Amino acid sequence: MPESRCLQGIWSSPWIFIFAAAGSAIGLGNIWKFPYMLGTNGGGAFLFIYCACLLLVGLPMLMAEVALGRTVRSNPVDTVNDLAERHVIHRFWVAIPYLAGATGLLILTFYSVIAGWGFAYAQRAMTGALQGLDMVQSQAVFDDFLASPVEMIFWHTLFMGLVVLSVGQAVTRGLSNVVRILLPVLIVTLFILAVYSMVMGAGADALLFLTRWDWSGFTFDVALSAIGHALFSLGVGLGAMFSYGAYMSKRMSIAKACTIVVGLDLIVSILAALVIFPLTFKFGLDVAAGPSLPFVSLPLIFGALPAGQVIGLLFFALLVLAALTSAISMMELFVAWLHERFYTGRLKAAFTLGLGVWLVGVAVVLSFNHWDAKLLFGLNLFEIIDQLTSFIMLPVAAIALSILVAWVVPKKMLMNEMLVKNATHFRWWYTTLKYVSIPAAILITVAGWIGA
Ligand code: PFF
Repeated sequence: MPESRCLQGIWSSPWIFIFAAAGSAIGLGNIWKFPYMLGTNGGGAFLFIYCACLLLVGLPMLMAEVALGRTVRSNPVDTVNDLAERHVIHRFWVAIPYLAGATGLLILTFYSVIAGWGFAYAQRAMTGALQGLDMVQSQAVFDDFLASPVEMIFWHTLFMGLVVLSVGQAVTRGLSNVVRILLPVLIVTLFILAVYSMVMGAGADALLFLTRWDWSGFTFDVALSAIGHALFSLGVGLGAMFSYGAYMSKRMSIAKACTIVVGLDLIVSILAALVIFPLTFKFGLDVAAGPSLPFVSLPLIFGALPAGQVIGLLFFALLVLAALTSAISMMELFVAWLHERFYTGRLKAAFTLGLGVWLVGVAVVLSFNHWDAKLLFGLNLFEIIDQLTSFIMLPVAAIALSILVAWVVPKKMLMNEMLVKNATHFRWWYTTLKYVSIPAAILITVAGWIGA
């Protein structure tokens, strides 16, 4: 790779890569989406399949993406182009990074809107509007908020502005410091809330729901949701981890770093579920309520806690920050590419792309209120973008990137990259990726599509 194409920074310490990658992985997917997907997919069976997908599909695919990124130290688009020009791979593969980048931008259109909900709730927590709510009042607060597109657009705009400004800076500088502080604080806060919720809420019912073994829950539909969410939650398949791999120090073991990232991601998801479900059962909320579930149940804990106003504010502020560190990586691919390839300023590239994302986001806001039209298969715009990205674009991009690494890129090139002090580790990963992760992902995705 010519020097001029190399990215600007290398992570200054191995841990900084882990923090940044975890910052991209941990976000609304863990605290907002995971609990409501557990709820709509029946609890225990989903949790089991999800963990299996995370370990057997997500982790090997994450390692593949990071390894390829570190091998070439460039952005995904140029990397694949470069490999094609050198006839290492077929030109067909050039389409994949574009698909990955487009998926990231499309996810960001609704991600930013939901992060805006976090902002709105932080403000409500601060002003005491969430104090002493019962279940009916909490639902009413949420419904009122959903019925006000102007407020939703305001918060969405604020969030997108922050994303654009952050991506406009070089990503190594922007992320590392924030995440180093954010992650431990987030985990400790969630842990305290989970303990409180388990003790004060219906902890036993929640545990039963999360561990309930129900064979009828093991369907391809549930498996597709689980695999789609595992990829979403790790941020695999969008080229984001590829970019972080490109910044990673050669001294770091990819296997170790990625395992830690997956572990942290899972811990945060489980903690979020342990906060939300005891409340859901205690207050008789519908576990299958969908995207509203976390936002209706969480205020109930802050309303009941001593100093709930402060803790509520802290929690929603952390949620927005976690969302921000994830959102940054959704834009990183195209911003890095425009910057490195066309010498466009990062801020200018981020602003231009951000404007498009913002516009579609406004339409997503309206799909929650004035424009709840069922556009396709009985789904509104938000649902279409969510399902299109989670069930089709993300799995396709992740599978294609993994096939590229496992079957197309020469094995020797990868072996050098994986720091093969221990060839057994490499063989384990390579064989799992080739013969377990990719076939399982293809089977589940296709069977889920045809409704098997
Ligand atoms: N992993 C993020 C979350 O769980 O909220 C979402 C995400 C981040 C998806 C980065 C895709 C991505 F490239």
